[in-house]
Amino acid sequence: MSDLPPATEKREFVRAMFDRIAPRYDLMNRIMSLGMDRSWRAEAIDAVGVEPGALVVDVASGTGDLAELARSKGARVVAADLALGMLCQARSRSCGAHQVQADAVALPLRDGCADVVTCGFALRNFADLDAVFRECARLLRSGGRVAFVEFDEPRAAVLRWGHGVHLRRVVPRLGAWFSDARAYRYLPASLHYLPPEGELFARLERAGFAHVEKRRRMLGAIQLLFAERS
Ligand SMILES: C[S@@+](CC[C@H](N)C(=O)[O-])C[C@H]1O[C@@H](n2cnc3c(N)ncnc32)[C@H](O)[C@@H]1O
Repeated sequence: MSDLPPATEKREFVRAMFDRIAPRYDLMNRIMSLGMDRSWRAEAIDAVGVEPGALVVDVASGTGDLAELARSKGARVVAADLALGMLCQARSRSCGAHQVQADAVALPLRDGCADVVTCGFALRNFADLDAVFRECARLLRSGGRVAFVEFDEPRAAVLRWGHGVHLRRVVPRLGAWFSDARAYRYLPASLHYLPPEGELFARLERAGFAHVEKRRRMLGAIQLLFAERS
């Protein structure tokens, strides 16, 4: 896969890419999803039941969409991301989240401090997915909930074909016009990093989660994953 970096360079490749595309990241999201990405994030926040005063850690927070939604529920929010460019974009929203530049595998927070962990569209981008799952489990109190929002592959063949055309032909062209061609060739290629559903569930359970649940959205092109800290 020529659009994917070697494993040893993935973390740095991803960080540099998001620094580059940060100024146009939100615009590209709205265009690619026809504005629907907001509703998936809102559903994720509603599903985990964010209470006023709860501590929410938004891992790989990017420009802060999920962090802002959690703040709107009255939660205290820590928004962590590796890419300073993304954090700077988020800062311009002034949503009141505490920002930290940190790797998702080593967040500077104590064990069991969080009521909720959220993470949007980042699973494909991590160099060590199991280490991130373990870190999310470490941060959560027992009974705390995690929500992941991520791309997925539709199950029906014809939808999978249409989705493939959209991701591999349309998205890179939009990326070249509005943002960065290479980054939006990486996006479809990076689906390759996502484990199949059963394996993903098993890896979450191994990290310390129970009651793993998946919801499909946008004809199966998007997945919302929820789990509870055992
Ligand atoms: C596709 S963006 C998603 C941003 C945001 N969560 C959203 O829902 O729009 C992926 C984010 O993951 C961040 N990221 C990638 N690897 C990371 C890591 N190891 N630790 C922390 N953040 C990371 C990137 O910097 C980028 O902001």
